[in-house]
Amino acid sequence: MQNNCAVILAAGEGTRMKSGKPKVLAEVLFRPMIDWVLSAVREAGVEDICAVTGHLSELVCNHLDETVQTVLQAQRLGTGHAVIQAKAFIEAHLDGNVLVLNGDAPLMDSETITQALRFHTENGNSATVISACVADPTGYGRMVRDGAGTLERIVEQRDATEAEKKINEVNSGAYWFNCRDLLAAFDEIEAMGRTKKEIYLTDAIEIMLNRLQRADAFPAASSDVILGANDRWQLMELNEIARKKVLKKLMVSGVDIPCTDGVMIAPEVEIANDTQILPNTILLGKTKIASGCVIGPSTRLEDCTVGENSVINASQCERSVIGARASIGPFSHLRAGSRLGDDVHAGNYTEVKNSVIGNGTKISHLTYVGDSDVGSGVNFGCGCATANYDGKHKFRTTVGDDCFIGCDTCLVSPVTLGDRCYVAAGSVVTEDVPANTMAIARSRQSIRRKVRKYHED
Ligand code: UD1
Ligand code: CA
Repeated sequence: MQNNCAVILAAGEGTRMKSGKPKVLAEVLFRPMIDWVLSAVREAGVEDICAVTGHLSELVCNHLDETVQTVLQAQRLGTGHAVIQAKAFIEAHLDGNVLVLNGDAPLMDSETITQALRFHTENGNSATVISACVADPTGYGRMVRDGAGTLERIVEQRDATEAEKKINEVNSGAYWFNCRDLLAAFDEIEAMGRTKKEIYLTDAIEIMLNRLQRADAFPAASSDVILGANDRWQLMELNEIARKKVLKKLMVSGVDIPCTDGVMIAPEVEIANDTQILPNTILLGKTKIASGCVIGPSTRLEDCTVGENSVINASQCERSVIGARASIGPFSHLRAGSRLGDDVHAGNYTEVKNSVIGNGTKISHLTYVGDSDVGSGVNFGCGCATANYDGKHKFRTTVGDDCFIGCDTCLVSPVTLGDRCYVAAGSVVTEDVPANTMAIARSRQSIRRKVRKYHED
């Protein structure tokens, strides 16, 4: 796609969100709205992108990566004014087309953008407005057509006559413009704004048609693409639409979600077929789940990889790798940097952090394994802990293959247990244990006579 570019309008305040954050950073499926717009633009093959920022612009600029240019709109004087701030950026793409989009309409998709561009170039249009027909057009700009159905102009809600307010084809706020023709219309857009409260980008349509240039509407296949969020309720509605889309796509590909209640899955998550997702499960980031797993109920995974046929029940895992046939939970927490092999069990009330756990190792109950390298076939009894922190520094613990660690053992790191060690229950292990030995590190039991008075009253 040669010399085409995109301008994303992201200066608005979003007063009704009642947020300390800029509106375009409000999240849909845990991802800021502007990121949805950016990925739709990039998926459509447009790489040169400029965002117009204004309200809390530093926060927006800090969020964007360095591939996105930014310009500041110091005062919010309207969508036309916002695009004019990107004049130099558009001038750098003189022979191309510019896609203008609202940064707070996250459901605009790459197919609509691509199809609209094809329509735009095939017809030699100066402007192509992506429109949609909606049941309730309140708040949107209406597409005014003449008796023959030819587009004449866009009228905003506040300027519309009663008859125009009844038009249910509305402006999505996304457009393709020929760069040269848009730049040539800037002065007139500004001039028209002087008679109104704001400088409207939508006036470009009437201006171009008066100049006998071609401007037309491209109706989107789904009206969802136009939806934006002005308040938290609308944000929830966008979440709901996006959520259902993700879930439907997964189900079509063979993922089993018998009940979608409380199931929220971020768009980049990958799940193989025949995996079952149960209620109240939230899957985030770049999580990747293989086939045949059961995830949930009430589980949260963020940036995790899960091997085939694993079960994760009522647990939370972050930035961890879990092998095949693992069984995690209920009530386990795998913290960042945990790498569990195949056939690992991390059961009730266990926590694993920044540790490698070998194949077939069992950490069944009430145990903490942190900063450790654990071999395969190890059994941790109930209530074990690695004491990995002395208040200042973290140390690692090493446990060889096939060790058996009795209940309530404390491994005070740095410490190493060789292969096939046995540690007696209740031990506090402070020194290395050689392979094939047994360590016992606790005081000997003593039996004493009962003190009578405790039992007499
Ligand atoms: C705009 C359109 C309307 C369309 C609707 C779709 C105009 C005049 N109207 O209306 O036809 O149906 O979008 O949602 O264009 N922004 C800036 N700077 C500004 C003003 C706005 O960056 O000075 C940004 C906002 O952050 C937002 C976008 O532009 O991302 C749209 O602005 P908004 O005020 O919401 O426009 P609408 O009145 O909804
Ligand atoms: Ca709006």
